[in-house]
Amino acid sequence: MAAENLEEIVSLCKRRGFIFPSAEIYGGLQGVYDYGPLGVELKNNLKTSWWKSNVYERDDIYGLDSAILTHRKIFYYSGHESTFADLLVDCKQCKKRWRLDHLKDGKCEACGSSNLTEPRAFNMMFKTTMGPVEDPDAFAYLRPETAQGIFANFKNVMDSMSPKLPFGIAQIGKAFRNEITPRNFIFRVREFEQLEIEFFVKPGEDEKWHEYWVESRLAWWKNQGLNTERLKLLTPNTSELAHYAKATVDILYKFPHGFEELEGIANRTDYDLGSHTQDQGKLNINAKVAVNKESIAKLTVQDPPGSHFIPYVIEPSAGLDRGVLAILTEAYEEETLKDNKKRLVLKIKPHLAPVKVAIIPLKRNDSLLVEKAKNLKNAILALGIGRIAFEDTGNIGKSYRRHDEIGTPLCITVDFDTIAKSENTENHDTVTLRDRDTMQQKRINLSRLDEYITNYFA
Ligand code: GAP
Repeated sequence: MAAENLEEIVSLCKRRGFIFPSAEIYGGLQGVYDYGPLGVELKNNLKTSWWKSNVYERDDIYGLDSAILTHRKIFYYSGHESTFADLLVDCKQCKKRWRLDHLKDGKCEACGSSNLTEPRAFNMMFKTTMGPVEDPDAFAYLRPETAQGIFANFKNVMDSMSPKLPFGIAQIGKAFRNEITPRNFIFRVREFEQLEIEFFVKPGEDEKWHEYWVESRLAWWKNQGLNTERLKLLTPNTSELAHYAKATVDILYKFPHGFEELEGIANRTDYDLGSHTQDQGKLNINAKVAVNKESIAKLTVQDPPGSHFIPYVIEPSAGLDRGVLAILTEAYEEETLKDNKKRLVLKIKPHLAPVKVAIIPLKRNDSLLVEKAKNLKNAILALGIGRIAFEDTGNIGKSYRRHDEIGTPLCITVDFDTIAKSENTENHDTVTLRDRDTMQQKRINLSRLDEYITNYFA
């Protein structure tokens, strides 16, 4: 089972501290969201899982964290200034504004009128001024994709790391798009994060590597807990491709609002490195910034030595926020228990769970129980598996329900048997371990707890 209704997810996110509308106290900022205490943990866990599998576990991919503020020329030569646009129309009747390709049968979504303006191209990049003096030429862009920061640093990575083809550069970071109609919660927003790899290959080997990355990325999403039946691949027509792509395969996930793109894997050929190499200096788009011919980068490789060529690039590009939404959708389950009571549980994979273990003393404010539980928390924290919660509510049932809803895989209860003198009870030095998914409880000796938890989260 998974969430069927977006409202269920939105409500859980607000109630339990995953995601909040940004600037809510001032009525909100459309298409912008803030991640709360649990949302930030989930998002960081998803990033860590991606980085581990795509950077640490490989020897052919290097990490990068390039700036968000981007030189205008990068987006001039990348083609974004002229082509990164959607067609917008205004409804003449109700004055609402729409993205043309989002409208069904060319009718206004709000009032159903077909009386629309002619479509106009609208560039989605955000501009911001640079420096203390108002100057229409002194501006930078907030990047609409992290990819260009990778292409612009291609030579730096080549010179500093001396990689051989094929190799990749990976980056996680914010991207900004002035979407005409942000919608579906964090699915289409104006500020979001991307998980991107630019994987450079020899021309002629690009199609083989494209297939490889489609398989690899699909397998990774399945490992994050997404069900095979809720994932599918889509190959868009050539007319639907981005301006830089020769071919693209999209990984679609069945969100509550339908199958939609989670990640795109594009064959960008030598388009970007080629544009930044060949066009530099030919056109000085900003007369106040002189082009220094000496510094013009040739974004090429030599293989064999002496023979320069521009590599092709395969780009797996995923949306982190869409990933978070997919994980929440998939994990959401409402169960009916034997007594007909409902249980809401987030069956999230342990490595992604915002809280890994909750330690709950049976009685609130009992100094011996609390001390034992706090010591236990510190001992489990030292295992380095992530966030461990200390829950001093004194209400075990309520704590279990809360931790089911936020997806905590294990709850540990410290009770009077735990702290009893050994001669008084056989349960001395044991705790109750409760499993989120099965709700089964068992007693486990503290001496075996570290090993149990380490194996559980391995
Ligand atoms: N560098 C390639 C690139 O940016 P894209 O298909 O435009 O390609 C890649 O974006 C991914 O970024 C998408 O598959 C999607 O997951 C995410 N994404 C794009 N626009 C988004 C938006 N407005 N809100 C949330 N995620 C978005």
